[in-house]
Amino acid sequence: MKPLLGTLYLLGMLVPRGLGYDRSLVQHKNQVVDKTRSLWKNLETYSYNKYHPMEEIYLWMSQISEKHAEVVTQHLLGMTFEKRPMYYLKISQPSDNPKKIIWMDCGIHAREWIAPAFCQWFVKEILQNYKDNPRINRFLRNLDFYVLPVLNIDGYIYSWTTDRLWRKSRSSHNNGTCFGSDLNRNFNVSWCSIGASKNCQDLTFCGTEPVSEPETKAVSSFVESKKEDILCFLTIHSYGQLILTPYGYTKNKPSNHEELIQVGQKAANALKAKHGTNYRVGSSADILYPTSGSSRDWARDIGIPYSYTFELRDNGTEGFLLHETQIQPTCEEAMEAVLSILDDVYAKYWLSNTATKVTSTTVLLNLLWLFTSLL
Ligand SMILES: *[C@@H]1O[C@H](CO)[C@@H](O)[C@H](O)[C@H]1NC(C)=O
Ligand SMILES: *[C@@H]1O[C@H](CO)[C@@H](O)[C@H](O)[C@H]1NC(C)=O
Ligand SMILES: *[C@@H]1O[C@H](CO)[C@@H](O)[C@H](O)[C@H]1NC(C)=O
Ligand SMILES: [Zn+2]
Repeated sequence: MKPLLGTLYLLGMLVPRGLGYDRSLVQHKNQVVDKTRSLWKNLETYSYNKYHPMEEIYLWMSQISEKHAEVVTQHLLGMTFEKRPMYYLKISQPSDNPKKIIWMDCGIHAREWIAPAFCQWFVKEILQNYKDNPRINRFLRNLDFYVLPVLNIDGYIYSWTTDRLWRKSRSSHNNGTCFGSDLNRNFNVSWCSIGASKNCQDLTFCGTEPVSEPETKAVSSFVESKKEDILCFLTIHSYGQLILTPYGYTKNKPSNHEELIQVGQKAANALKAKHGTNYRVGSSADILYPTSGSSRDWARDIGIPYSYTFELRDNGTEGFLLHETQIQPTCEEAMEAVLSILDDVYAKYWLSNTATKVTSTTVLLNLLWLFTSLL
């Protein structure tokens, strides 16, 4: 029944409504949806204070891009190991400006359910506010948001159907005797050198080679192809209440380490101002543990300047099983942190362009002065 769920869902997606596919399939699908309790008919009744199974997130993605077609489009990034489509949402206001990109992915680890909830919250907030909120409106003049709400779709579904604490993907190894790679150990950066395992039984199995997993490959190829334009790479996890900077694979620091810490600390302050929650800021190797092959380190090393991992609430009391009542405060405060990072990135990038303009004006004035004095 389990693989059927995805297939039925896909049928629902691909067959236009009203074309009349097998009634028993429809009934079966409805029963499945009933069981997952939140039958919702339109976006207005979609609850951002609940965790949603994957088929609802798929539906949410297509509905939100229909409803806000003027700014949101849905794009295929790739296919998972179990052949499910990976979609990202692009939020972009039409403009003649060349835009820069903010990347955000959630749910690379299956059991961290608050992460996909945050990606959905983030998209909702941007769409609700971009017209009237000058801060968000200004971002959208120069920035596009690319949001991948669930990176590890196969694992996420497995965590709903079979094992709530599943972390990895669902790729098959050792002749079908062992399942799943840790996708956040599978990126091509110091691959499997530290804080990762080559044993498929382990939680941190790094895969059979760098970028061996289709999900990792989909993200890597896409981000690589856009890297000149991506200013910010945000990857959302739980739990621990941390804002992590590169690196995990070494205690060495990237060239802009001080700035990353400063921007991160300011974000943690903005976060705390919302509900009083403490987040710590530092490099993964310094304040969490060593990790190799993570997407954050990889993104920084291909040249994306602002690369952060968020470890959302809590600090261990409920852990991965964070209660739904905490979704809203967790997302509200994390939203403040992300907006703070965007403020800084925005100011730095566009102010330094202004500075260039000032410099050329200065040069012009000097030339003028030189000209005048020659006369
Ligand atoms: C894999 O499993 C198949 C079927 O059980 C078996 O015939 C084959 O020898 C196995 N291969 C390896 C490398 O273990
Ligand atoms: C990994 O990166 C190295 C360079 O650091 C490159 O030579 C290699 O081809 C890459 N491998 C994959 C699978 O992308
Ligand atoms: C975790 O949260 C509790 C309650 O807010 C707090 O008392 C405790 O100091 C926190 N622990 C860490 C390690 O931050
Ligand atoms: Zn994680």
